[in-house]
Amino acid sequence: PVSVFENPKIASINVAHRIANLIKSKQASNAPAVLGLATGVTPIAVYSELVRLHKEEGLSFRNVITFNLDEYYPMQPNAAQSYVTFMNENLFDHIDIDKNNVHIPDGTLPLEEIPAFCLDYEKKIGDLGGLDIQILGIGRTGHIGFNEPGSAPNSGTRLVTLDDLTRRDAARDFGGKSFVPTKAITMGIGTIFKAREIILMAWSRKKASIIKKAVEGEISGDVPATFLQLSDNVEFILDEPAASDLT
Ligand code: F6R
Repeated sequence: PVSVFENPKIASINVAHRIANLIKSKQASNAPAVLGLATGVTPIAVYSELVRLHKEEGLSFRNVITFNLDEYYPMQPNAAQSYVTFMNENLFDHIDIDKNNVHIPDGTLPLEEIPAFCLDYEKKIGDLGGLDIQILGIGRTGHIGFNEPGSAPNSGTRLVTLDDLTRRDAARDFGGKSFVPTKAITMGIGTIFKAREIILMAWSRKKASIIKKAVEGEISGDVPATFLQLSDNVEFILDEPAASDLT
């Protein structure tokens, strides 16, 4: 299903409250809440609302376990552009999560250790019973996570090559495209698919044409987000400009 909200703020608060309700219902049964998280501009207001709920309304994250979708490769965790830095600044440094419960793909591994790391990432998620909710943004290539065009629907966590358009879109953060890593470690489409609930968010007119393809286009590896059409557990949460090309 597709839900269109008046603006990204209202939509983000709605998504944050769904996450908070999940966390609280898991707390009531002494169970962990297992969250799949995204970086980028899109989820920032979701994270700020979660921080507000923690600071002002006592929402605790002690029972929360997180898995981020992706990280650039190579990437040092303390670099300004790392997704570790992003998550700390936008969420983890402001809530009471146990940092041992935070998982982000490791951009510092030697190449030969990446396959085992990726299998272990999948196993950790599986051993916890899977992701309760996966939050997604969408790239202009149609990527979810860093599953670029050509990704297989059953793909798992792995090292991938970033699309040129993705690197151009990241150029501003890195001070030029040539400084954007050419690779990343990402959860796969198959990994994302196993989540019990998938929420893809998109804001602004810039995302309208890729949202039209993702929601209404032919299902194809050329636009990886189209695979979400095959899931019964996905919801597209859009603002009006991002939804404006939908029929
Ligand atoms: C980020 C991620 C990417 C972004 C996408 C949109 O962890 O996996 O798929 O969600 O590139 O980025 P923004 O939100 O910056 O437009």
